[in-house]
Amino acid sequence: MIKGGETLFSRSHEIADEFALSETIVVYPGDCIELLKSIPDESLQLIVTSPPYNIGKEYEKKLHLDLYLEQQARVIKECARVLTPTGSVCWQVGNYVDRGSIIPLDAVLYPIFSEIGFKMRNRIIWHFEHGLHCSQRFSGRYETIIWFTKSDDYVFNLDPVRIPQKYPQKKHFKGPKAGQYSCNPLGKNPGDLWIIPNVKNNHVEKTEHPCQFPVELIERLVLSLSNEGDWVLDPFLGTGTSIIAAIRHKRRGVGAETLPNYVRLARQRIQQEIDCTLRTRPMTRQVFVPVNAGNNPTVVPRKNDFGQMTLFDNNSKDE
Ligand SMILES: C[S@@+](CC[C@H](N)C(=O)[O-])C[C@H]1O[C@@H](n2cnc3c(N)ncnc32)[C@H](O)[C@@H]1O
Repeated sequence: MIKGGETLFSRSHEIADEFALSETIVVYPGDCIELLKSIPDESLQLIVTSPPYNIGKEYEKKLHLDLYLEQQARVIKECARVLTPTGSVCWQVGNYVDRGSIIPLDAVLYPIFSEIGFKMRNRIIWHFEHGLHCSQRFSGRYETIIWFTKSDDYVFNLDPVRIPQKYPQKKHFKGPKAGQYSCNPLGKNPGDLWIIPNVKNNHVEKTEHPCQFPVELIERLVLSLSNEGDWVLDPFLGTGTSIIAAIRHKRRGVGAETLPNYVRLARQRIQQEIDCTLRTRPMTRQVFVPVNAGNNPTVVPRKNDFGQMTLFDNNSKDE
């Protein structure tokens, strides 16, 4: 709630292009440093981004690694300034590739965050199935999200991002808790290995942008690291994914994007989200479904043809 009965999204949805604390959605068409300079100190709760990886994509000029890190440091320092004391920064990165040799960007960016005083909470492995097929090394099938907080007193909401337990009906079979469920009925902590499909050609969210992240990846960060009404910033906005995840969960969203084509695309997708017409992969859809895989704990244990007890057999002839 913002004030007396009015909710954040009960007002008209305007997509502003300049930042003001009174706005709800801001897409700044320009350099992220300029946007950051217009944001007051300690005013944003969550910063989540996937910066250019300096690998020569159409939206970046490949720089010497030291120069690239200097530019990143400038952005990260400004992010530290605008972040609330309870806030978080999540930098989603892959590898920089130098003549076939890889340099993991999280490893070289870590000292920048650490020198500013950020505390690392997780190095999340985002695993996906699709990508380039390498012939001289194993194909890369994960990237990382490095999550830092500004202080030890930070927002972390686990319940909204719990995932289904593998055996939700498992109970204590002895002791004082016998008969009670042995796991949290709200679900389990999703851990630091996230298996979420990346946005390639067959993905419902695919646009012309070469490096979108899936909305569901950011929804999990938005829900766990911010509260309703908070600001979420993406300094390298691309197609607007972070703002989409933010407004979907009643946060405010702001981002910068330099390329006019992507600014247009981001605004278009955000408008579709507002109009409830944007198609996305739901964050509740599992890649691995235990029941489909035969692990159905509601099946009554029975003896198979060999006289052995089976609990997870759902291929029985009489079903
Ligand atoms: C890896 S992409 C981010 C894609 C985004 N996560 C999405 O889901 O669409 C990085 C984006 O940052 C933009 N960019 C590069 N330098 C920038 C800068 N200095 N300020 C703002 N945007 C920038 C690029 O044009 C590109 O679209």
